Amino acid sequence: MSSSGLIFFSLILTWLVNLTIAQNRPEPLYHLCSNTLGNYTANSTYSTNLKQLVSNLSSLEQNDYGFYNISTGQNNDIVNAIALCRGDVRPDACDSCIQNAANQLTGQCPNQKDAFVFYDNCMFRYSNLSMFGIKKSSAVFYMWNRENVTQQDGFNQVLRNLLDNLRNRAASGGSLRKYATANASAPGFKIIFALVQCTPDLSGDDCNNCLIDTISRIPQCCDGKAGGRVIAPSCNFRYEIYRFYDPAAGLESAVPPTPTLSPTVTPPQPPSNARGICFCF
Ligand SMILES: *[C@@H]1O[C@H](CO)[C@@H](O)[C@H](O)[C@H]1NC(C)=O
Ligand SMILES: *[C@@H]1O[C@H](CO)[C@@H](O)[C@H](O)[C@H]1NC(C)=O
Ligand SMILES: *[C@@H]1O[C@H](CO)[C@@H](O)[C@H](O)[C@H]1NC(C)=O
Ligand SMILES: *[C@@H]1O[C@H](CO)[C@@H](O)[C@H](O)[C@H]1NC(C)=O
Ligand SMILES: *[C@@H]1O[C@H](CO)[C@@H](O)[C@H](O)[C@H]1NC(C)=O
Ligand SMILES: *[C@@H]1O[C@H](CO)[C@@H](O)[C@H](O)[C@H]1NC(C)=O
Ligand SMILES: *[C@@H]1O[C@H](CO)[C@@H](O)[C@H](O)[C@H]1NC(C)=O
Repeated sequence: MSSSGLIFFSLILTWLVNLTIAQNRPEPLYHLCSNTLGNYTANSTYSTNLKQLVSNLSSLEQNDYGFYNISTGQNNDIVNAIALCRGDVRPDACDSCIQNAANQLTGQCPNQKDAFVFYDNCMFRYSNLSMFGIKKSSAVFYMWNRENVTQQDGFNQVLRNLLDNLRNRAASGGSLRKYATANASAPGFKIIFALVQCTPDLSGDDCNNCLIDTISRIPQCCDGKAGGRVIAPSCNFRYEIYRFYDPAAGLESAVPPTPTLSPTVTPPQPPSNARGICFCF
């Protein structure tokens, strides 16, 4: 083989290896290290408890609703954690998403007592404060699809109707799962696919209010955009004009239609770099 052929071959190999690593260890969409609760030092009890909690995730008892509330240690050194998978993620994938999330987050936040990370498939938070049942809709993160919609007023009306409907369904979802997805026809032969989710430890009212808070950020996040997400620690939503969730999870629901023409095709998924990002607090 010529030397340029060899270089080409090794470039391809590097690319394949990187691709494999990327698939096994997905990068977070967003992470936040907060030291408002103080820092911990290496070898402190808090540090030991956190390590214990993370290593114990490998023996997590799986459930099919994908929500975990875990604590390790006591008193001032207690570490509380909450893990949640997207409602359509299967238990094995959920488990590996959470383990990867916890490992990466403790690396990225080496001494903060309070941290949060979000992936496509799961989120993970820890803190020395109790978080269970407490709504947190601040520390928000936005993403949007760069593609613009035409007929924006009609699109917004359908989107608003769809999200309000899903918000109500998720809020009434019970203590194990607060998740809902649906699609709706929008002007210009588009279909809007949307997903909303709260951590299920929230009360129905808190879930509802958390989603109201995040949905109210659409004008800043993704006004006139063909896709968007607003991610808060206690709840998040996403919409796109292509399907991005698994409807086979059996939770897709019919939404009363906003009157429009009936579309026929789903456009292909745009490249994942076609998005903007904002860390908005
Ligand atoms: C915590 O550590 C960070 C650096 O990691 C430092 O900037 C910050 O001032 C520390 N905060 C407190 C309260 O000690
Ligand atoms: C933490 O403990 C390890 C092993 O006992 C030791 O090597 C390291 O120096 C300690 N680090 C600090 C910051 O005390
Ligand atoms: C979740 O964790 C908190 C704090 O440790 C505890 O009070 C609560 O009972 C736990 N809830 C469930 C459902 O495990
Ligand atoms: C970690 O997991 C082990 C084995 O499942 C269990 O015995 C232990 O109590 C757990 N520790 C903590 C701190 O949760
Ligand atoms: C959390 O840590 C802070 C500072 O490190 C401490 O003041 C506070 O009491 C701790 N909170 C709990 C609930 O342990
Ligand atoms: C969408 O509209 C904005 C503002 O009008 C413009 O800057 C941007 O280039 C448009 N994006 C695409 C993909 O056409
Ligand atoms: C939209 O959701 C309905 C369920 O309400 C489902 O039957 C239909 O296949 C979905 N449409 C698309 C294009 O996925």
